[in-house]
Amino acid sequence: MSVLEYLSLKPYNTFGIDACARYFCRVQTKEDMLHLIADEFQYHHKQLIIGGGSNILLCDDYDGLVIKNEITGIEKIKEDEVFVWLKSYSGTVWHDLVMYAVQHNYGGIENMALIPGTVGAAPMQNIGAYGVELKDVFVELEAIDLQTGEQHIFDKAACDFGYRHSVFKTTHKGQYFIYSVTLRLSKHPQPNVAYGDIRKTLAEWHISSPSIKELADAVMHIRRSKLPDPAVLGNAGSFFKNPEVSDALAADLLAQYPDMPHYPLPDNRVKIPAGWLIEKCGWKGKRVGHTGNHAQQALVIVNYGDASGPEIWQHAQEVQASVQKKFGILLDAEVNIVR
Ligand code: EPU
Repeated sequence: MSVLEYLSLKPYNTFGIDACARYFCRVQTKEDMLHLIADEFQYHHKQLIIGGGSNILLCDDYDGLVIKNEITGIEKIKEDEVFVWLKSYSGTVWHDLVMYAVQHNYGGIENMALIPGTVGAAPMQNIGAYGVELKDVFVELEAIDLQTGEQHIFDKAACDFGYRHSVFKTTHKGQYFIYSVTLRLSKHPQPNVAYGDIRKTLAEWHISSPSIKELADAVMHIRRSKLPDPAVLGNAGSFFKNPEVSDALAADLLAQYPDMPHYPLPDNRVKIPAGWLIEKCGWKGKRVGHTGNHAQQALVIVNYGDASGPEIWQHAQEVQASVQKKFGILLDAEVNIVR
């Protein structure tokens, strides 16, 4: 395992930011990772672990060690009449795992087709799309303590999953390397078509009882039509989380904006799509210098080619300030801001 110096991270982040890593190495096995942890070198440098680099905004050169996770593979570890347990190593591309499951007719993650990133990043923020979240199928993960090399198992409760949330973003931030993730999928899938866009697409395709392959195809079709392909236009998906506000504030806003989409939550709070709020502030399709908000989905901030991390962050903060001014709601970044 060799350590490279002064490497451009442009190919390793989907925003396409040309920041430089002081040190860079690839890990391809658990042993690589354990060697790295045991090596005194790593104590002198801060570390950034990247998978697909699809949820980060690099705001500066990285004056530390960037560890690219390339530990891949999918194993069926158990099955019964009803379920199958798949263990996948954390550097596996998430969409490859979805395609593996769909090909074998294992149901549960097809609605999360084409979410960018790796399997190891999925539990970090409890990825989700079209009515399904990782926590719905999650069993456990294996993690390695980056200080001691000790190996720990985290079950679902220990991860404390919430909307785009887990302990790996808060109390355990930067503490662990996620090595593998085990999911329990169904051998008798029940497609989840609750999401309006999915029902609409399937109706257009004249499909009334979809297979999970058809469902995954519908999800891919919707995502490709709404979300920019990072290979063409740099981006990191939704830049902000959808805010959850008090029912009183939601009622106030609904009196002013009766067309505002809103989703009541079990705890009397109300989720409002950040994309709608941003669009109402006039940002949809608006370009500012080398960055701007995507024309089909205002929640996605894009890099038109030469934007720097600070330029994108500056733009995001302007978007945030305008939403706060107009609606009294402070948007929280979903993307990890790396300095
Ligand atoms: N909307 C607008 N204008 C916009 C964008 C959206 O009015 O520019 C409205 C839509 O009309 C719709 C509502 O907002 O009524 C929701 O939009 P959409 O279905 O596109 O979903 P979203 O809430 O914007 C979330 C996730 C996406 C995920 C989709 C589908 C977050 C932060 N984002 O977006 O996840 O793909 O739902 O489930 O929760 C990601 O995390 O990177 C991501 C792309």
